[in-house]
Amino acid sequence: MNMKPQLLWMGLLPVLAYGGGTTTDDPSVQRGRKLAETRCAVCHGGHRRYKRVQNYPSLNGQKANYLEKQLLEYKSGKRDNAVMRSLVINLSDQDIKDVSLWYSLQPLVNK
Ligand code: HEC
Repeated sequence: MNMKPQLLWMGLLPVLAYGGGTTTDDPSVQRGRKLAETRCAVCHGGHRRYKRVQNYPSLNGQKANYLEKQLLEYKSGKRDNAVMRSLVINLSDQDIKDVSLWYSLQPLVNK
C-alpha cells in the first residue's frame, strides 16, 4: 500500500489553511501573534517592529512542534535556561501552541 499521496496531502493542509502568511484570521494564530509581539519579539524578532537580538535563536519558520517541545521543556525545567523558564512559566499549554504556530508561519530571514 502506498501512503505517499495521503501524507503529502496532510503536509499541505496547514499551508492551504494558513496560506503561508500571517494575515489569517485563525484565532490560534491571532493569539500567538499577540503573545509573540508582547513577550517574545523583543528578543527573538519575527515582527517587523523588532529586530532579533544578535546570537539569540531565530524562531521564524521553525517547525511548530519543535518550538512547542522546547517551550514545554523550559517550563518543566528539563531544558535548563533561567531566562526562558521565567518567560514560559506563566504560559498555558494553549499559549505555547499558539505562539509556536505563529512563529512557524513567519518567513525565514537570514539575519
Ligand atoms: C529576554 C530575552 C528573551 C525573551 C523575551 C524570550 N526569549 Fe526565547 N530565548 C532567549 C534566549 C537567550 C534563548 C536561548 C536559551 C538557551 O540557550 O536554551 C531562547 C530560546 C528560545 C527557544 C529555543 C530555541 C531553539 O532553537 O531551541 C524558544 C522556542 C524560545 N526561546 C521561544 C520564546 C518565546 C515563545 C518567547 C515569548 C513567550 C520567548 N522565547 C521570549 C531569550 C528570550
